[in-house]
Amino acid sequence: MGYKIVDVNNISYQYYDSSQLALDHVSFTVDSGMWVSVVGPNGSGKSTLTKILDGLLVPKSDKDSHIIIDGIKLSDNTLYDIRNKIGIVFQDPENQFVGATVADDVAFGLENRNIDRNQMIGIVTDSLKQVDMLKFADKAPNMLSGGQKQRVAIAGVLAIKPKIIILDEATSMLDPDGKNIILKLIKKLQKQNNYTVISITHDLEEAIYSDKLLILKAGKVLRYDHPRKIFNDVQLLERSGLDLPFVFKIKSQLSQMGVNIPEEIIGQKELVNYLWQLSSKK
Ligand SMILES: Nc1ncnc2c1ncn2[C@@H]1O[C@H](COP(=O)(O)OP(=O)(O)O)[C@@H](O)[C@H]1O
Ligand SMILES: [Mg+2]
Repeated sequence: MGYKIVDVNNISYQYYDSSQLALDHVSFTVDSGMWVSVVGPNGSGKSTLTKILDGLLVPKSDKDSHIIIDGIKLSDNTLYDIRNKIGIVFQDPENQFVGATVADDVAFGLENRNIDRNQMIGIVTDSLKQVDMLKFADKAPNMLSGGQKQRVAIAGVLAIKPKIIILDEATSMLDPDGKNIILKLIKKLQKQNNYTVISITHDLEEAIYSDKLLILKAGKVLRYDHPRKIFNDVQLLERSGLDLPFVFKIKSQLSQMGVNIPEEIIGQKELVNYLWQLSSKK
């Protein structure tokens, strides 16, 4: 794949009124163009990590700690450059809006950037088109459904032309259809523009199909690996407190019955096909 676009080394963070570390010596790297899912129980530090990456929170300074985003080391002096590279979509559609209309809202992130009006209109139009929300440009945000609001939030992110998109449980408040629409949209945009995606999620079906999976527990990286390896490691899953994705539940029950399904099989269709083959061989 690509080059090392995110490099997080030995990062810790403690909220001033807390006695525990919210992030505890966290290190990981992400290659460009990857889809990394971050999972972990509530309070494990996922949102704190998002805020650290975007420079909204400043980590403790340990001797060898650093955050390097697309070759630029995060510091007071580089905050603006880093924020041009990272776009974040947060969880709550209601809290994403600052503009009076959909178009204003997408334009908001472009203000203070010395972009002339025509160019701004062009970028806003293009961004709304990419999420199929152009026809709502002049509407008030409160007219929109939760899923439509998240699409506008994504347009706002696209407008700044980031390299990295962070989804902080961006679909968790949507119904299953709304979730799927947003996920498919981001996957399509990722292909078109080669975004690197870091997706904080509780959706294990999404996690299975990621390039890598990072498990946080009590502020620590419990494991960072290919999802296939993680979901086939029963002991690790028990320690992490993660539930098993549907296919892996079936696999585990089958294995108790003496039917062992190969590790590579992670999707429902593959599993069904494999079982068909087995029964036709008999
Ligand atoms: N503003 C805050 N002040 C104090 N503690 C906080 C604050 N935000 C989060 N925490 C604590 O930091 C830990 C990590 O929280 P967070 O990053 O929000 O976890 P997650 O996103 O995984 O649910 C939790 O123990 C949480 O209670
Ligand atoms: Mg969170």
